[in-house]
Amino acid sequence: MECRVCSGKLHRFADFGRQPLSDHFVLPGDPAPEFFFHLAVGVCEDCSMAQLLEEVPRERMFHESYPYLSSGSAVMREHFEGVAKRLLATELAGPDPFVVELGCNDGTMLKTVADAGVRHLGVEPSGGVADLAAARGVRVRKDFFEAGVAAAVRAEDGPADVIYAANTLCHIPYVDSILSGAGALLRPGGVLVFEDPYLGDIVTRRSFDQIYDEHFYFFCAASVRAMARRHGFELVDVERLPVHGGEVRYTLARRGARTPAPAVAALLAEEEARGLTEPATLRDFAARVAANRDDLVALLTGLREQGARVYGYGATAKSATVLNYCGIGPDLVAFVCDTTPAKQGRLTPGSHIPVRGPEAFADPYPDYALLLAWNHAEEIMAKETAFREAGGRWILYVPEVHLV
Ligand code: SAM
Ligand code: TMP
Ligand code: ZN
Repeated sequence: MECRVCSGKLHRFADFGRQPLSDHFVLPGDPAPEFFFHLAVGVCEDCSMAQLLEEVPRERMFHESYPYLSSGSAVMREHFEGVAKRLLATELAGPDPFVVELGCNDGTMLKTVADAGVRHLGVEPSGGVADLAAARGVRVRKDFFEAGVAAAVRAEDGPADVIYAANTLCHIPYVDSILSGAGALLRPGGVLVFEDPYLGDIVTRRSFDQIYDEHFYFFCAASVRAMARRHGFELVDVERLPVHGGEVRYTLARRGARTPAPAVAALLAEEEARGLTEPATLRDFAARVAANRDDLVALLTGLREQGARVYGYGATAKSATVLNYCGIGPDLVAFVCDTTPAKQGRLTPGSHIPVRGPEAFADPYPDYALLLAWNHAEEIMAKETAFREAGGRWILYVPEVHLV
């Protein structure tokens, strides 16, 4: 097993077995067999990058009917408006600035940039969500970003001041092509800014459900710095973010172009001190994950025996790992409610639990709700206060199985 970034030796540390495509919600009665792959994770002994061992072809995941919408959470809408305003006030404050977003999805971030009249381009391969971005007035190119596309964009639009990507770079195994493309597209003083789930938070919070087909890499400061250097970039800033269960925003600039902020050395030192990318640390994480699985299955089986009614809340991509790894089906969780239109009326991938709209949650309330969108806990619990008032309890499975 070789590292996808540097060809170094990989140490396997977690194995979730056979898993479906996390965003492939199945139409009831569809005779087409589902696609399955082997979900296992390793860490590179040379460059420290944590990564999947099997790669799912990108066209199977990102296509015309990719269902995920960035605008599905009020907290994320606010987050991306903040990102856009900050970029406009800093990196994009010069004359005739130009920003490219990779994985702009439905245009939630770029809409604010477009409204400010600033030159921009979203590169988004999933046609349905790209159309939603275009309908919001965002200029979008339906493509997978890679070196060839970067060269074409540079030829048409000139150099970019910023390339920004949220929850997208970690989805891309061919990251070499992204970084060389960024090198070709950015102006000499430009920056590549990206934010993704942080390996340090995944280990601390035991959030094993961040591991699924679309999340190919699990970044940390050490692995991002090594990856950047291979392409003449330097990691010049890191910022911890509370969204999606804990992320880091990384800023890369051409080597020598900017002085790294003190936060970079601080995070590298913290990772070193806790042995974050040591195989032993990650194997210990995997052992704790297996304990969570056993506890969750025991709790749900006990509730079924008592005749309790249990629904799921949030048909997240993440939930594919939990439901399939734990063997949870409609016998344990009657249905999952979710606000995403393209998921409703379908079945969860692999586990085949019906997905219904959010209105089904209160009709009538269940005794327990398995919070599959735990990364949006605050927003959801604030919206569903009547559930607890009616005597209902939330089931969480990270960092350990507990009731709220
Ligand atoms: N940036 C949005 C956010 O944070 O909410 C969307 C994140 S979504 C999880 C990942 C997005 O990356 C999808 O819309 C997918 O189509 C897109 N994507 C996947 N591979 C890509 C590539 N090579 N270039 C650009 N976008 C890509
Ligand atoms: P995410 O964890 O990948 O952001 O996905 C969140 C999922 O949860 C998405 O399918 C939308 C759904 N959701 C709800 O159903 N209700 C809510 O209040 C929120 C915030 C999300
Ligand atoms: Zn490596």
